[in-house]
Amino acid sequence: VVTLTGVTERTLVLVKPDGVSRKLVGEVVSRIERKGLDLVALDLRTVDRELATQHYAEHDGKPFFEELISFITSGPVLAAVVEGPRAIAAWRQVAGGTDPVEKAAPGSIRGDLALETGSNLVHGSDAPASADREIKLWFPNL
Ligand code: PPS
Repeated sequence: VVTLTGVTERTLVLVKPDGVSRKLVGEVVSRIERKGLDLVALDLRTVDRELATQHYAEHDGKPFFEELISFITSGPVLAAVVEGPRAIAAWRQVAGGTDPVEKAAPGSIRGDLALETGSNLVHGSDAPASADREIKLWFPNL
């Protein structure tokens, strides 16, 4: 019997300030674990403007950039490195699409628990190159 398994990847997951203040950290960690993904690192921290602008550098200049930076620096976030087969896509499936109403499927975190794109509870890296960059930025000692 040949079993097809995905390539092991790591991705950066954030529970954004709305998720922490709504006490959804346990819910998000639980969904990561129930999917079968591994937690490699977990850290609750407050983000300064420098880290925020580096993290969202690709969106600099977009109309929502300032709102995004104020939001992510507005309170503690849970940062995590998550690992597993096809972890980047697997986490994005668990999280749901960026717009919680138009894009996120029912059963996903955003589909079930969020209403607005500007406060969509969680973040995940969107590709291997961004996952590498974001993990180095948030967890330089990993
Ligand atoms: S884009 O322009 O298609 O690249 O944007 P997208 O990938 O959909 O979203 C990038 C991140 O910006 C957040 N976002 C917003 N925040 C506030 N207001 C508005 N209107 C808005 N639109 C997008 C979105 O949640 C993404 O954040 P992350 O943390 O990467 O999920």
